[in-house]
Parts: sequence; C-alpha cells; structure tokens
Amino acid sequence: MKILLLGSGGREHALAWKIAQSSKVEKLYIAPGNAGTSAVGENISLSPCDFEAVASFVLQNGVSMIVVGPEDPLVKGIYDYFKGNKELSHIAVIGPSAQAAQLEGSKSFAKDFMQRHSIPTAAYRAFNGTELDEAYRFLEGLKAPYVLKADGLCAGKGVLILPTLEEAKMQLKEMFDGMFGSSSATVVIEEFLDGVECSVFVLTDGKDYVILPEAKDYKRVGEGNTGLNTGGMGSISPVPFADKDWMQKVEERIIRPTVEGLSADGLLYKGFIFFGLINVCGEPMVIEYNVRMGDPETESVMLRLKNDIVELFEKTDAGTLADAEVEFDERTAVCVMLVSGGYPEAYDKGFVISGLDEVKESILFHAGTAVKDGKVVTSGGRVLAICSYGKDRKEALAKSFASADIVDFEKKYFRGDIGFDL
Ligand code: AMP
Ligand code: GLY
Repeated sequence: MKILLLGSGGREHALAWKIAQSSKVEKLYIAPGNAGTSAVGENISLSPCDFEAVASFVLQNGVSMIVVGPEDPLVKGIYDYFKGNKELSHIAVIGPSAQAAQLEGSKSFAKDFMQRHSIPTAAYRAFNGTELDEAYRFLEGLKAPYVLKADGLCAGKGVLILPTLEEAKMQLKEMFDGMFGSSSATVVIEEFLDGVECSVFVLTDGKDYVILPEAKDYKRVGEGNTGLNTGGMGSISPVPFADKDWMQKVEERIIRPTVEGLSADGLLYKGFIFFGLINVCGEPMVIEYNVRMGDPETESVMLRLKNDIVELFEKTDAGTLADAEVEFDERTAVCVMLVSGGYPEAYDKGFVISGLDEVKESILFHAGTAVKDGKVVTSGGRVLAICSYGKDRKEALAKSFASADIVDFEKKYFRGDIGFDL
C-alpha cells in the first residue's frame, strides 16, 4: 500500500521510521518531511493544510492511506474533506473529524465533554470578554496559582499559570483584549492541579481502542524543570508511577468514558487520542486532550511499540481494533532533544550539523533539519531527537547523552537532566 504521512517534525520522523518497517508498505511519502524523513521515504513539497493539493497528489499517486501528524489539518477538517467527497472517500484518513478534533481545538469544548461524561478534570468555567466582572469573581473564589487557558489553538502557548490574583486579573484582561488573537476571545479559568504529568496514547476506531506505551515529556527549557515552556525537551517511556493499578484507573475513568463519549456524542474519530494526564495523589486527572500523537513522546513511544503500526492503522480505518493486541518492548526508551541556543525564544538557523554518521548507540529522529548544498543544517528550534533503548532509564539516558556529545552544531543545547525526577 502507498501511504502519505503529513507533517515535518520529530514526531513525523519517528512515525515514518515505524511505518517504513511494515511489510505492508510499498511506498511512503512524507509531506513536507525533513532531512531525516527522506531517508525512510520520499519527501513531497506539499502543505498539509492545502487539502486540494493533498487530494490531487493522493489521486495521482495511488495513495490509499493518509496519516496525519499535526493537529492543524485535523482541526481544519482534513478527515471531513476526504470523507465528504465521492472520489476521495475510499482513502483511509488516520485522524478525527473536525468536530471531534475540537477536543484539542477548543479548551471549552473539551472541558464540557469531560464534564458531560464524568471524566476527572480540574474544576473550571469558560468566559468571554463581556463577562469580565464575573470572571474576576470566579478567580477570587479560587486558590493560587491561577490557570488561564485561551480557548483556541495557540501552538502550545495559550496556557498561563499566574502566582497572584492581581496578575491573573491583569493577564485575563489582556487575553480578552487579543493576546492570542481570536484564540483568547474565550478563556477557560480552572483550578490548579498539583502533581506529575504523564502522556497516555490510544488509537481508536471510534468504538474500540488500543493503549500504546505511555511517556513523560519534559516541557521546560531549563534543567530542574525551570525556565520557559518549549515544545518538549525530551521524553521517557515507561513512566514508573504509571503502573498496572494506575493505568487501570486511567482506562476505567478516562479512556473508556472518552471513547464511549465520542460515540454517544456522534463524534467521528479514527485516530490517535493523546491524554495529557496529571497524577494528583495517586489519582489520574485530565489536563488536556490532543487529537494527535505528542512530540517528543512519539519518539520514545514508537521505540516501544512492537506491532506493525500499519496493521493497527488498517484496523483503525476498518473499525476492527477490537481484534488487535498491542505488544510493548520491555526496555526503556528515552529521547533527548538537541535544540538551537535561544529556543524557545529567538534562535538562528542554517548551522551545519556534524557527527550524524558517527552515532552508533542511538536512533536519531530529525525535528528541525533541512538539506542545504548537500549538507544537513538546522532549520528549527528543536533540531534532533536522540533516542536510545536501555535495560533501564540510566542505561538508555547514558547512551543518549553520549550521542548528544557526538552530534554537533553551533549553539547546540540540550537538557542533561531528562528523567531526573523519576
Ligand atoms: P495544556 O496546553 O492544557 O496542556 O497546558 C499546558 C501545561 O500547563 C500543561 O502541560 C501543564 O503543565 C500546565 N497546566 C495546564 N492546566 C493545568 C492545571 N489545571 N493545573 C496545573 N497545571 C496545568
Ligand atoms: N509533548 C506535548 C505535545 O505534543 O503537545
């Protein structure tokens, strides 16, 4: 079968690496891809949100399955675009419908969904700019710190956590005044939850699901979880506190009610669900849903998934996931992200990356790379995901840190403490 994978980051290189291992794949295209994905498939210069261009490519090249990496095309309705067109509806699209993608596209939609289906999450209320006084009163009834979430997509930047009521009120007003454009016209204010986060992933066909390996993501740029939030500086799977008992709670209280809720609400969903969870005194609660895999979690999760992922995608499309059994690699997988100095604020691009061929003990997934004059150069903030297996965290991390020293580019930076808190 011919598959088109949409996206260009480390998540997509990891997915492409896994898809390319399937005996079912005759040809893998990645649009637009990066310097790494071109080693496991063919990069195509197409924008994932240009559905017309994607459709004509797919028809011209006999592609029968589209796997969607990032959330944007999903929230913009790529699933519906294909399913609503007679010529295209036979093509499998791995991802939710636009309506179901609102689980990520709108925080208030997600919170209402959780409340309707009794899924544990922080207490909240949603407000718009005409309700400023009411929103202030709601804030006054909460305890510090204060959590403000822009309702719409903000590339991971729309959540503010403020230490004082005064700052929370000030920032709330700024959000209503357009801090995140129309994405913060509505703001969800919620109770702060104290605990350790864990990302849990499933593939669902809309009625059944399989649970994939869980992972922990390190979001802050600085060691000891300090400094600005990033897209993710590293990940680890498995997560020690996500043991059998905890995962059973997650499945019973969160995963099953979510999948049943999708079906009860008539939300079409054939793809990944990413549960951003927090462990509050042993009890799992949902911080957020994403309608795609996580980055850099995918880089660890794909290392631990033993199944042929294309077979799982076929069952997802056919609605036969009930027959699937997922097998995990028992080893620990870790990912250490090499980033460009300055990230997540301003950084330079175009630095030549050396040492890529000298790394023997890790798997390298490219995140922000490109080829220029025959050389691999940096083209983004997050540059390379250095992934390793080990019999335990210590062994896996030692390999990734050693490889992180071999690969080099100007202003290279990485966190040397991934996994320190586990
Ligand atoms: P989100 O985009 O909803 O995942 O939020 C971004 C980050 O903000 C999360 O990964 C958490 O670290 C933090 N966060 C969001 N909501 C809460 C909450 N209610 N309590 C504590 N931390 C939160
Ligand atoms: N690692 C968090 C995310 O992908 O949103």
